[in-house]
Amino acid sequence: MAEKFDVKLSEKYYMPDPSYKQNSWLGDYQKAYNDFLKDPDGFWDRVAQELHWFTPYTKVKEWNYPYARWFTGGKTNITYNCLDRNVANGRRNKVALIWRGEDGTERIYTYRQLYREVQRVANGLKKLGVTKGDRVCIYMPMVPEQIISMLACARIGAVHSVVFGGFGAAALNSRINGAEAKVVITADVTYRRGKSIPYKRVIEEAIINAPSVEYVVVLRRELDQPVEIHSEMEVDFYDLIKDVSQECEPAVMDSEDPLFILYTSGSTGAPKGIVHTCGGYMVGTYYTTKYVFDIKENDVYWCTADPGWITGHSYVVYGPLAMGATIIMTEGTPDFPDPSIWWRMVEEFGVTILYTAPTAIRMFMKLGEEWPNKCNLSTLRILGSVGEPLNPEAFEWYYRVIGKKSCPIVDTWWQTETGMQMVTTMVGEPMIPGFAGKGIPGVIADVVNKEGKPVKPGTGGFLVIREPWPSMLRTVYKDDERYRKYWNTIPGCYAVGDLAVKNAAGYIMVLGRADDLIVVAGHNIGTAEVESALVSHQAVAEAAVIGKPDAMKGNIIKAFVILRLTHSPSDRLKKELLYHVRITLGPIAMPSEIEFVQSLPKTRSGKIMRRVLKAKELGMDPGDISTLEE
Ligand code: WTA
Repeated sequence: MAEKFDVKLSEKYYMPDPSYKQNSWLGDYQKAYNDFLKDPDGFWDRVAQELHWFTPYTKVKEWNYPYARWFTGGKTNITYNCLDRNVANGRRNKVALIWRGEDGTERIYTYRQLYREVQRVANGLKKLGVTKGDRVCIYMPMVPEQIISMLACARIGAVHSVVFGGFGAAALNSRINGAEAKVVITADVTYRRGKSIPYKRVIEEAIINAPSVEYVVVLRRELDQPVEIHSEMEVDFYDLIKDVSQECEPAVMDSEDPLFILYTSGSTGAPKGIVHTCGGYMVGTYYTTKYVFDIKENDVYWCTADPGWITGHSYVVYGPLAMGATIIMTEGTPDFPDPSIWWRMVEEFGVTILYTAPTAIRMFMKLGEEWPNKCNLSTLRILGSVGEPLNPEAFEWYYRVIGKKSCPIVDTWWQTETGMQMVTTMVGEPMIPGFAGKGIPGVIADVVNKEGKPVKPGTGGFLVIREPWPSMLRTVYKDDERYRKYWNTIPGCYAVGDLAVKNAAGYIMVLGRADDLIVVAGHNIGTAEVESALVSHQAVAEAAVIGKPDAMKGNIIKAFVILRLTHSPSDRLKKELLYHVRITLGPIAMPSEIEFVQSLPKTRSGKIMRRVLKAKELGMDPGDISTLEE
């Protein structure tokens, strides 16, 4: 239990310019939050009314612990709200999607064009016999067709299961089989650092022993050396949509029908197929996109995530399109051809809202300020972060170097399971580096002990959500028991599995996964905390911390450190780092060992896999490493 947390709560506030609050959709946070508390169902009803329903719902929520149903009786289709509604309401010729390839190729879709493409692919899928409820696996690089395929599935009520394009054949096979996908949509290659990386070979391997698969649709991009299409099972993407109609009526979906499955790695065992539904997910992502990013008609919005992750599902595709926003998508890496590529994108397209991950921010910190400083970033007005704790140093850098001290930063805490952002500091509210913020209006987040009782400010505990919310997962595909676990671990709460601490003002600092806790001499230390302390030293680019069993202390802390290019390893520097941790966190959090390394094992979404480090250190089996980046 994280009872005695030695944590220093920074109280350094940043106040955004008052105009942010005055002009925001939200207005005053506290007022909006109180409105929600007074009448939660009325609150969500007002949000849902902004979207189109073929048949109105009869109830906002039915809560039958631990099962929730939202907007029951309502019939809708998320693509109607993302496409038809925008085409009809004055956004027909507005740019929906700007895509930029690694070699500079651009493809731009207006809402009308995107609408047509989605309907064509939807009709193509119908030709293959895909019907409502069938699962379609999408294994594609970051190209417009990836988004179009997702929307095409949703159009006809097929359940998509997007698998991140970086996964290998075994991981892909288990996800295809898990969802029993009838069709797989893929591409021949992706382009990375000037090279083409084959996808199709991976698919060929992955569909051996995947008896549910009837067709593989292949988007061929290499036109001078086209990969062969094996006609027994494979279909060319363009052939599929050649002679089809541009019109495809949206399937009438019940609010509680599944919209998609997305696999996420569990701390133990096989990946979990998180199931999201049509109505609640639509309302949750629309609401958060509107209020957390405060999107306005003229914004140019860039979320750098791959749609293969939940961040891409909710905040590249569904939320922003439901808002009628202009979105940007790129293929390639942030440091190719050089580390200014992102900042040149911001300058060229006049990006106003940028949403990315701490790991990217820390990489840019390591590479130096000169790259962003070469570009005009003055169009930016809101910055976002997601995926892991945004440590104070990364916050400060993002705020100063990218935001030029004038952009609010929304550090958004949420999960694949939550579907939508849950905890953040809403635009216009005071920001505290290191703290994500508070529950957004609509969400009751708290930090509790294992009995579910709130802990005192400054004391570590478990982050929980107290009431159901529209875009919560409904089940784990074919494993409902794993679903119930989320609600059974801590009485009366949805246990998110993260450790956190609150300050006196109610701001929540997320410390990392509960399984990343190290108990040293009876004290609970969050790995993220020690890492954050190390990274706050000027020599350190990145750090990962693990616990090592120790006869005396139970555990000792071992730190793996990547230095910035300006520094080199030495014993002297080790001592300096130890001293630095002693001063910032106290002696209890001091690592007993520091090892300088060149790289850290990470998941493909950029999270450090401490489990793998630990297994290596202790000479143990690392377990499932299907999510490990090569
Ligand atoms: C972590 C990604 C701190 C957390 C949207 C959570 C964060 C897990 C933050 C979910 C944040 C996500 N601050 N930690 N702002 N955002 N996390 O399912 O441990 O890929 O439980 O969803 O990422 O990861 P997932």
